[in-house]
Amino acid sequence: MQHRCLDCGAVAARWLGRCRACGAWNSLVEEALEPSVVDDAGLGGGPGARGAPGAGGLEELRPLPLIDVDPDDALVVATGVAELDRVLGGGLVPGTVTLLGGEPGIGKSTLVLEAAAGVARGGRPVLVVVAEESAARVRRRAERLGALVPSCCLLETASLRSVLRAATELSCALVVVDSVQAIADEGLSAPPGSPQQVRQCAQQLASHARTRGCSVVLVGHVTKDGALAGPRTLEHLVDTVLSFEGDRHHALRLLTSVKHRFGPAGELGVFEMSEDGLASVGDPAALLLGDRPMDGPGSIVVPLLAGHRPLLVELQALVGTSVGPVPRRTAEGVAPGRLALVLAVLERRCGLHLAGLDVFASAVGGVRATEPAADLALALALVSAVAGQALPPVLVACGEIGLAGEVRQVPATERRLGEAARAGFRLAVVPASAPEPPTGLEAVRVRSLSDALAALGLARAAAGPLRPRAVLGATRS
Ligand code: TYD
Ligand code: MG
Repeated sequence: MQHRCLDCGAVAARWLGRCRACGAWNSLVEEALEPSVVDDAGLGGGPGARGAPGAGGLEELRPLPLIDVDPDDALVVATGVAELDRVLGGGLVPGTVTLLGGEPGIGKSTLVLEAAAGVARGGRPVLVVVAEESAARVRRRAERLGALVPSCCLLETASLRSVLRAATELSCALVVVDSVQAIADEGLSAPPGSPQQVRQCAQQLASHARTRGCSVVLVGHVTKDGALAGPRTLEHLVDTVLSFEGDRHHALRLLTSVKHRFGPAGELGVFEMSEDGLASVGDPAALLLGDRPMDGPGSIVVPLLAGHRPLLVELQALVGTSVGPVPRRTAEGVAPGRLALVLAVLERRCGLHLAGLDVFASAVGGVRATEPAADLALALALVSAVAGQALPPVLVACGEIGLAGEVRQVPATERRLGEAARAGFRLAVVPASAPEPPTGLEAVRVRSLSDALAALGLARAAAGPLRPRAVLGATRS
């Protein structure tokens, strides 16, 4: 017996209350020592490690002059799902394993089915392993999605061996396993979904991918706090980790690459969940800003950066007199820590009194606007809400706010402003040191938050209409 940490995968000979490697408490679980798991061979492969089929030996790999390297060796298989291909850097890389993680119900099965159909449409044999739902149900879904393609085979099983056998027989270009937590190697006594099983299945499938040169996509559920249910170690075993996120109550879904050995990491794909499955959204601004109120106070647009892609997101703020002893601070899609910081700076550096007021701040569309670059926009939305004064609808703001009330430059300002100009915005509040904005966009350069309020005619709002006497009394007591 040995003990493995669920968080980092470190192994300890005996049980410990706290993992020595990562410091997590109560994360060690007992697992049996089985030879197939102990054997770590066959990991960390990829296109470079593929070598000649069946060769397997390192002696096959010789250094090549750079000029002789075949650029087509990195050829990818496009899935035909535009936003997925964008995130993958063109498509799936043969011989590698991609893990698609996301909360239950977010649309992972839908996305992989569409991708599988896309690859199969190119005439390549594809195997979709359904271990969580019935094949009949998946067929009905495929019909609805227009994903019924003859060379796409379904296998309803929870057995890793059946998966490997079928994948070998079909000489698949792509094997999709939905989900990796629902299949198991019968040779192990551990139950499906246990760290040991998940690792074993991922390793076996990775080695299949490498030796056969096919792509493997594993679907993995993550828990609310973002950890992969089962071992996070899975992230180390695969070549690409994609994270599928969104608010289940909104149609918007964001796909990001958390790790990508053979392509861009941090790239963003935007989808809309509709009746007919996931639609790739080429212009997220149209979706995210479509229903924006143009003349309401407390609303502003911030150009965020998701991966390398700028994303225009509306931030909203609302304040109201608090009825409870402790005023509420509610942050939806906004980092509570950043909201607290911005409120403190507004109070201490700009004289805005918010004690006794409930404050609500949200990023619209289920997007997470947790970047410090959203600070300035958040502050302006809050003051606009307090003053009851709308900001110009053609205005964007981006900048980080420091504790002294200064406005600081954020990464990739040029790209952010470029996207704002493209979407028709005309005015941008930016830090004094920001680069020249693109044509069509006028920069309002500010050194501090107070400067920004003055420039927008909001300075007086610090002592504005929503500063009730009762609140002042409350702050004094
Ligand atoms: P699903 O792909 O099953 O999610 P996951 O595999 O991540 O658990 O899809 C989840 C939700 O998406 C489901 O509640 C229904 C909805 N949905 C649509 O709105 N339209 C569709 O075309 C499909 C297939 C699903
Ligand atoms: Mg599913």
